[in-house]
Amino acid sequence: MAEVTKEYEMLHDLVTTRMSVRKFKPDPIPDGHVEKILEVARWAMSGANSQPWEFIVVRDPEIKRRLRDAYSEYNTDYIFWMEQQREYKLRHPSYQVREKLHESLAFNKKKANWHLAPAIIVVLGDGRRQWGTVMGAHTFGRDQSHLTDGLANASFLIHLAVASLGLTSEWVTIHIQEPFKRILGVPDLLTLYLIVPIGLPDVGPREGVRRPLEDLVHYDRYDMSKYMSNEQIIRYLYGLREATVPVHSSSRGVSAEEK
Ligand SMILES: Cc1cc2nc3c(=O)[nH]c(=O)nc-3n(C[C@H](O)[C@H](O)[C@H](O)COP(=O)(O)O)c2cc1C
Repeated sequence: MAEVTKEYEMLHDLVTTRMSVRKFKPDPIPDGHVEKILEVARWAMSGANSQPWEFIVVRDPEIKRRLRDAYSEYNTDYIFWMEQQREYKLRHPSYQVREKLHESLAFNKKKANWHLAPAIIVVLGDGRRQWGTVMGAHTFGRDQSHLTDGLANASFLIHLAVASLGLTSEWVTIHIQEPFKRILGVPDLLTLYLIVPIGLPDVGPREGVRRPLEDLVHYDRYDMSKYMSNEQIIRYLYGLREATVPVHSSSRGVSAEEK
């Protein structure tokens, strides 16, 4: 086997030690680090190099708290109830509830503590910019995949740059953009894609989990022995959910029983 470069080793080390953290210390992070992170993010790939991203750095404690409250009120409420339509064990572990649903919802609404992180990066996209791409010629609208593909690339670079500086982050999916836009004064035309709190972890390190390489790589042609039937996929999803319980709990600094 050919020797790998030290750059590969550094990158591999970075991606395997980076982890999502869901409990942050309020300790400040060094001045200029957020800008260093965004300096990396702006080099993300995007369709036709349209660079549809913009970022809001939120440090004001009151604005952070209002964002967290909006998250609890709109996002948590929405995903809690939508998850209830699924079979119990296929739900996100936090939403595996059989009784006292409203009490559980109220508990879950208090869980998110990312407003305590010293800085939050909000990733925005301007869908008009990606009308320069091939996709733009085919599909009208502001939320085409070339927009979100580019925003995802920039967002992942944020997470990598965060890890490279010895910090941690969380990918906080936003399902309902409008309340956050109102708080931040974001124009209607823009997409509010993601919230990324950044700080020091208030939990210990843990092992990352990924599918083994041999399960997902095919050479020259698709290897049908690796193809999963619909039934196998369902079994896989059950297994994934079971595995989520301990990982998610430790990323939030609670025991698996407390979820
Ligand atoms: C599209 C996407 C959506 C995600 N949504 C959330 C989220 O809403 N909340 C959260 O805490 N983590 C979220 N994550 C983080 C994943 O749960 C996490 O990356 C995955 O479990 C692997 O764990 P690791 O990042 O610690 O390696 C999301 C990640 C991606 C790429």
